[in-house]
Amino acid sequence: MDQELVIRGGHPLKGTVRAHGAKNAALPIMAGAILTEGTTILHRVPHLKDVHTMGAILGALGVELEWTGPNSLRLTSPGAGGTVAPFDLAQRMRASICILGPLLATRGAAVLPLPGGCVIGERPIDLHLRGLRALGAEIKVDGTTISARAARLRGARVRMAGPRGSTVLGTANVLMAATLAEGQTLIEGAAREPEIQNLAHYLVACGAQISGIGTRRLLVTGRRRLKGAEHALIPDRIEAATFLAAGAITGGEVRVQDVCPAHMRATLRAMRRMGVETLEDERSLTAARKEPLRAAQLATAPYPGLPTDVQPQFSAMLCLAEGASVVTDRVYPHRFTHVEGLRLMGARILRTGSKGVINGVARLQGARVDAVDLRAGAALVLGALAAEGVSSITGLDHVDRGYQDLEHMLKALGADVARREASATPDRQRRSA
Ligand code: EPU
Repeated sequence: MDQELVIRGGHPLKGTVRAHGAKNAALPIMAGAILTEGTTILHRVPHLKDVHTMGAILGALGVELEWTGPNSLRLTSPGAGGTVAPFDLAQRMRASICILGPLLATRGAAVLPLPGGCVIGERPIDLHLRGLRALGAEIKVDGTTISARAARLRGARVRMAGPRGSTVLGTANVLMAATLAEGQTLIEGAAREPEIQNLAHYLVACGAQISGIGTRRLLVTGRRRLKGAEHALIPDRIEAATFLAAGAITGGEVRVQDVCPAHMRATLRAMRRMGVETLEDERSLTAARKEPLRAAQLATAPYPGLPTDVQPQFSAMLCLAEGASVVTDRVYPHRFTHVEGLRLMGARILRTGSKGVINGVARLQGARVDAVDLRAGAALVLGALAAEGVSSITGLDHVDRGYQDLEHMLKALGADVARREASATPDRQRRSA
């Protein structure tokens, strides 16, 4: 039976929560353990559905996994082992693509499902394939299957930038493969996201030679082998931004601890433009809203720009801002699945092409809505927290992919929220039924 979150909105959220480790660092770094001989211990691993799926995929490929603490995960890679990903698991999550580079580099072959488009739009992998082919991999894409082979990868010059900027997981794939390739690889147009930097630091701890970490040019000198390492994941900057937004949209004051403010500059700038006061110290951030929210023109971009992964949540905030806002998603121009649910709550938001055009309203009303993807779900939760009356949000499977303990954290901030078995269909479905 599907579950739903039931939220009675209108309570200003106040208090402090702690950020978990970053999902988008955990997934490629767990895949990176395939590259190593020996044991890796990762700290601050969040308990999320996608993390458990990645664990199960790695387990099927012979990696031993054991939780050694509440958020510490030990991974021991056997070196040799299977090369065919379990399709049922790998199909559940696009990030399973990041086992491709590590399998090719260590086991000389990989067979996995071709990730399809998803509700946030086309998500091609041409840049991953181009990069790995440049390192000497032979890759066939046949219907829904990727089959790749390589005797030993050779270093090369690779460009990871595409029409929408640098690919994050494509950079991860090529970087991981290059660490064991023969000779040097120059990755140009590399993604600079903190999660990629975190991956690179893990690989260096394993013995990889990488220079230019955090820049657009990564120079990798291939090694014969890598050992395991102990490594801490960075805080989840998107989870942190979502909780700060929860404080702001409800007119409250929320502090998120254990974050890295340096990773969140563009996010904090956008919040201030919307009239939110932000305060920071070395490891925590506070967002407080004392004035009405202000309309803003926002555009997403690869790091260090405003993350696409906060666009739906910030769009929810702008639904309650005074005046007209335009939000452009340059990274995922189709990422507007939050629009319908917010409209059901009374928001005046329209999608035109890659833009959301928003005319602020004074209040939202509770509604029955369905989350069709992760960050759209987060945006609907924010809308519901601010709305008058009761909302119920189904589609929690998507939300649980990226937010650990969501309702407990919201409750700790004073939200009136409960999870229960879904009782009714979303308003849209009821109307058309
Ligand atoms: N793209 C190409 N060709 C490729 C790869 C990507 O044209 O070969 C395009 C995409 O279609 C998109 C843009 O490049 O327009 C950026 O895609 P990217 O490859 O960077 O996305 P990703 O690596 O598959 C990661 C995150 C996403 C996040 C994006 C952008 C993980 C597991 N996923 O995806 O996270 O939105 O980077 O920052 O790290 C989320 O957490 O909600 C989420 C979707």
